[in-house]
Amino acid sequence: MKTFEEYSIKSLKLKNRIVMPPMCMYSADNSGNVNDFHINHYTTRSLGGVGFIIVESTGITPNGRISDNDLGIWDDKHIEGLKTLVQGVKKYGAKIGIQLNHAGRKYLGSSGQPLAPSAVSYDEKYKLPKELTKLEIKEIILKFKEAAVRADKAGFDAIEIHAAHGYLIDQFLSPLSNLRQDGYGKTTENRARFLKEILVAVKEVWPKGKPISLRVSAEDYKKGGMSTKEMVQIINIVKEYVDVVHVSSGGLVPAHINLYPGYQVNFSETIKRECNIPTIAVGLITEIDMVEEILSNRRADLVALGRELLRNPFWVLNKAKEKNIDIELPEQYKRAF
Ligand SMILES: Cc1cc2nc3c(=O)[nH]c(=O)nc-3n(C[C@H](O)[C@H](O)[C@H](O)COP(=O)(O)O)c2cc1C
Repeated sequence: MKTFEEYSIKSLKLKNRIVMPPMCMYSADNSGNVNDFHINHYTTRSLGGVGFIIVESTGITPNGRISDNDLGIWDDKHIEGLKTLVQGVKKYGAKIGIQLNHAGRKYLGSSGQPLAPSAVSYDEKYKLPKELTKLEIKEIILKFKEAAVRADKAGFDAIEIHAAHGYLIDQFLSPLSNLRQDGYGKTTENRARFLKEILVAVKEVWPKGKPISLRVSAEDYKKGGMSTKEMVQIINIVKEYVDVVHVSSGGLVPAHINLYPGYQVNFSETIKRECNIPTIAVGLITEIDMVEEILSNRRADLVALGRELLRNPFWVLNKAKEKNIDIELPEQYKRAF
């Protein structure tokens, strides 16, 4: 079965096609350091046979977090904990990446005012953000670059740049949140400039052999907002800096989303085809036959299971048994499978 076949992106060699997507656990203290929970949580999914684990949204600055309980990577002091986490996960066979994020106007913590391309809040419950100056934009780009250096020092196999779900990069991409009149606003190319400058900066320090994933929201589900068609244009602008696109949707503005199993797969399929780039599909996927369909019909190269892996960390081992596929099992659990 395709699900259990190996897959390589640059030097990243995955033993199967199942990804654990980034999921905030809001379990760090205000320092942003890794603790026992994170090590147990991610290592369990590695024991459970997941091929590629992407650690939750991790703040590149204190007010770039979503909450005061996010993981952080804004200081060298974070490297040691992240290194322990990486070693724990790798010991049981999964490969591991980390999602680098700046929350922008969706920052809900206590370290100062949120920042955004324009002074427009997400909704009335969120604080009004401060519009970034060009100098502040350059400073944030540098923070992404420094975070990438730390991620490499901690031993991560990949990084994922979070340009989805209405966080800072997405706020620049979408015309609904970016009202700037300078070189970072108005046209598609200008709105993609912040993302492109981040990727260029990160590429300067991130090892050539290790992949960079880009997480995007293909749709804002709002008139005048991001569409898959425009996202294809944006990815085509930056794709020389990206190795895989992790295709999600929504989160920029409050909107109704019609949810059903695999509701984002067609976005992944379009991006894969139109941009000629590997993709990860995600969104209400829980069944092995659906994973197999997505992979076999080349609608994505990898499939992420989020909440299903929270409920069922041993999903991969169980499904391999159900389908009579021989996979490597943790020595200690062999008698159970
Ligand atoms: C508890 C939780 C936390 C999440 N945190 C993040 C995150 O840190 N970064 C991100 O890009 N997506 C995040 N997401 C979205 C998931 O990565 C995934 O795209 C979403 O849950 C849909 O997949 P699923 O239906 O398989 O759960 C989160 C989702 C959940 C349920």
